[in-house]
Amino acid sequence: MEEIFEQANAVLEEIKASAPTTNEEIEQFRIKYLGTKSILKDLFGAMGKLPNEKKKEYGQLMNALKDAAQSKFDELTQSLGQSKNVNKEIPDLTAPGFDVPLGTRHPLSIIKNKMIDIFSRIGFVVAEGPEIEDDWHNFSALNLPADHPARDMQDTFFLSEDKNWMLRTHTSSVQIRVMEGQKPPMRYVFPGRVYRNETITARAHCTFHQVEGLYIDENVSFADLKQTMLYFAQEMFGRNVEIRFRPSFFPFTEPSAEVDVTCFVCNQKGCPVCKYSGWVEIGGCGMVDPAVLENCKLDPKKYSGFAFGMGIERITMLKYQVNDLRLFLENDVRFLKQFVSAQ
Ligand code: DAH
Repeated sequence: MEEIFEQANAVLEEIKASAPTTNEEIEQFRIKYLGTKSILKDLFGAMGKLPNEKKKEYGQLMNALKDAAQSKFDELTQSLGQSKNVNKEIPDLTAPGFDVPLGTRHPLSIIKNKMIDIFSRIGFVVAEGPEIEDDWHNFSALNLPADHPARDMQDTFFLSEDKNWMLRTHTSSVQIRVMEGQKPPMRYVFPGRVYRNETITARAHCTFHQVEGLYIDENVSFADLKQTMLYFAQEMFGRNVEIRFRPSFFPFTEPSAEVDVTCFVCNQKGCPVCKYSGWVEIGGCGMVDPAVLENCKLDPKKYSGFAFGMGIERITMLKYQVNDLRLFLENDVRFLKQFVSAQ
């Protein structure tokens, strides 16, 4: 009989001494002392076997046990709600966040965006055209005669037997699409991907990107073209660079020129980037050929304009001194993540 008292007292001590901390431990405490199959139930059950004179004392002990278990449980669950360290399963909302690695813009996108930004500041807006083109927009309307070498199988990825459909070889095709659809004044840049059937090397690829520019209005002059190219070169490569125009030929412009910039890497002292010439080429340009305007039903007596075309890869390679074109399409993060600070 004394035994059951001892047992109950031992449980009381056990309750007082127990210090569960995690959710799981507290739940076990509840099951053990307060649940439907708690050990207190067994101890209560022993009451019936006690002589009457002991029942009151035992009953009080049982109440003390129940109260101790209940108040311990209340205390524990309450402190769990208040303290962030008690329960390891509840995340610490005050802890610093995980370091999420940020992606970076592709170097070609960085330069493309920069080019668009530079031209948009002087009123050029962006337009785009399809990568699959027909002969008219890619060649004929641009004054490329049927026997022009650029049409050759060697350069162009034709998509149809009759050679009417192809992957565009330049973004000049978008000039035609825009001029056909609207009246001057128009001031556009056309960024986009182009394709040529070339062997892939460090310097050539079968796909690359261009930004084409077009400005058509009344009285647009060659001086406007020169000033626009100078403005672009200085915004892109630095205020102290100069430009030079070398006479050239493109079927869609007359006169035509190739544009060079003083080497911004060596300041014309001579370096591998400019191949010790002091100049680097950035693109082609010229006054839109009257035949091209006519092809787009614009009156060449009323309107004139200039156009230019630049390779995004070329500008990017110059700007960041990348010496292998293939790197742009390999998606090697060791290469790509070097341009984080550049954006
Ligand atoms: N379409 C030429 C090319 O892909 C680049 C070009 C040169 C565009 C002169 C022009 C231009 O608009 O005027 O090589």
